[in-house]
Amino acid sequence: MHSSELIFHVRPGGHMSGRIRVPGDKSISHRAIMLGALADGVTEVSGFLEGADCLATLAAMRALGVGIETLGQGHVRVHGVGVDGLKPAAAALDLGNSGTSMRLMTGLLAGQAFASTLVGDASLSRRPMRRVTEPLRTMGAEIDTTADGTPPMRIQGGGALSGIDYDMPVASAQVKSALLLAGLYASGETCVREPAPTRDHTERMLAGFGYALSRTGDRICLRGGGRLRGTRVDVPADISSAAFFLVAASLAPGSDLTLEHVGVNPTRTGVIDILRHMGADIELLAAREVGGEPVADLRVRHAPLRGVAIPDALVPLAIDEFPAIFVAAAYAEGRTTLTGAAELRVKESDRIQVMADGLQACGVTAVPTADGIVIEGGAGRLRGGTVNSHGDHRIAMAFAVAGQCAQSPVIIQDCANVNTSFPGFVELAAQAGLDIEAAAGVDT
Ligand code: S3P
Repeated sequence: MHSSELIFHVRPGGHMSGRIRVPGDKSISHRAIMLGALADGVTEVSGFLEGADCLATLAAMRALGVGIETLGQGHVRVHGVGVDGLKPAAAALDLGNSGTSMRLMTGLLAGQAFASTLVGDASLSRRPMRRVTEPLRTMGAEIDTTADGTPPMRIQGGGALSGIDYDMPVASAQVKSALLLAGLYASGETCVREPAPTRDHTERMLAGFGYALSRTGDRICLRGGGRLRGTRVDVPADISSAAFFLVAASLAPGSDLTLEHVGVNPTRTGVIDILRHMGADIELLAAREVGGEPVADLRVRHAPLRGVAIPDALVPLAIDEFPAIFVAAAYAEGRTTLTGAAELRVKESDRIQVMADGLQACGVTAVPTADGIVIEGGAGRLRGGTVNSHGDHRIAMAFAVAGQCAQSPVIIQDCANVNTSFPGFVELAAQAGLDIEAAAGVDT
């Protein structure tokens, strides 16, 4: 199905209440499959996100010779083949819309004895890959891309990799993870220095699989040639999916919603800090640690929000949540400004431009800048209207929750990719109190 075919219709009214559990964390789900595949022995994954992105990683690993059982309701059993056990795939690996699959797999496959080709959909085929190919080439990898540095990726394999000490120019967990995965196959030590903290699921999970690595300040190092031991991975609910409900419940008067078992790794909680800074009432309950990752239930109640200048330091810690945060800003009293977020322009869509266009279509003054946005917010500013998500899952869901407090309905086009990260979004949002319907639209 072409992704333009799915349209969301959201009618204003109601509020968010009850207890819900959003699907599993996308970043952790990808890594559980990859590390489980490379481990010796079996890895049992629970809470796995059965969305298209993580299923693309799963299919790619199967194509590389790994036995993976999907047992339903997020239970996945990975029969690890060991770091040296992958086999060449019979065809190009299609990673769909998933940047995480493409960048992490590039690092992982650079160290194999065989060649691989990675392809993706139209959006993924526009995304920058030099950030991984350049340092991987320095390690000795041979990788071809288009002249623009975009996919398809042709990874030669077969060459020897050597460890590097790399200063990342952009704060990117995908680049860090790609280099650490290649580092498993490199001679000597591979070190990555990050300019700002980024999600550290790869580091935590490598440790959980018994692989030694060290962090000193902003530098993470590991030595190649070790082995991983199969283990259990309990994937918490994705804070990036929870974010839409944190915003929705903050905005709608009368809301009192609890999101269960959400991952609250400190490298991911920027959205909570930013919303609290705006005045949101979010409580972390029953904080605990599950399999090396912090988890809590999040209780969110309606509260009036005010516009803020978002601190630059929080940007990498909330990088996927800005579409939702921009919606909060549209209803918050006063001006919200974001800077230092040029990375948003190279996500699944140009999230600065596409969000600005959508907010403007709904009557909000939103001015894009080179590396951020300025939003003039207030109650009643978001009138309603028709917006195009450009096939970007998070834009579609952000405008869906925007509809609850709008003056008139919000109609969102091109929503099928919501399934990449949040299968069942429409049903769960309706259960929590959103008046939403999905309908087949006209293909464009
Ligand atoms: C991810 C890292 C982030 C994030 C993406 C998932 C990961 O990308 O936006 O959705 O799982 O490592 P960058 O590394 O490009 O910031």
